[in-house]
Amino acid sequence: MTRGRFITLEGGEGAGKSTQIALLKDALEASGRTVLTTREPGGSPGGEEIRNLLVNGATNRWEPLSEALLNYAARYEHLQKVILPALDAGTWVICDRFADSTMAYQGYGHGMDREIIRRLHRLVVGETNPDLTLIFDLPVEAGLERAGIRGEGEDRYERMGLDFHNRLREGFLEIARKHPARCEVIDATGDIGAVAMAVHDAVASKLGIDL
Ligand code: TMP
Repeated sequence: MTRGRFITLEGGEGAGKSTQIALLKDALEASGRTVLTTREPGGSPGGEEIRNLLVNGATNRWEPLSEALLNYAARYEHLQKVILPALDAGTWVICDRFADSTMAYQGYGHGMDREIIRRLHRLVVGETNPDLTLIFDLPVEAGLERAGIRGEGEDRYERMGLDFHNRLREGFLEIARKHPARCEVIDATGDIGAVAMAVHDAVASKLGIDL
């Protein structure tokens, strides 16, 4: 059994990741692959309970370290119970956010000591890093406007202010610069078709597959 590939999508608020995940799943399935889509924080029963604690309530509800620990607790559940079994079974896993979000939001956004996040990462994730990470980039104001129009609740982070969101945008771009083999920045300002084409090209070229 060939192990599945692990693809993550990252970026700020309102970047259009969900729409693109659905389109990528269809394209991969049309080329004969079995695909699981999932998300963080969440993705497992325990992880979804932790998600409720993180995405609702007052913006100052948690200390940055508490947020990082909650995200990594949810991530461990997700990895052990969902992601690793799927990859072992040959399923491709597409995950809406993963560990780069902790580095961007808690590290760059909240200014948490990034070495602590790297240590947590080694402890919880170890070697199971994504094969490919697509970082959706767009101006903060445009993303927050899109997310606000969507108005799905779960808006604790959307309420954190422009400075916070600009720091995490820069953080994601720096992560992409530090990990060029794994990461590809996707310009998320275009329409759905243009972004889908960029995603398609990145997946095909970075993973060396025909799509
Ligand atoms: P979503 O709205 O994209 O589903 O993600 C929920 C929020 O959680 C989003 O604002 C980003 C935030 N988040 C973190 O702050 N740290 C993390 O590790 C993850 C995975 C998400």
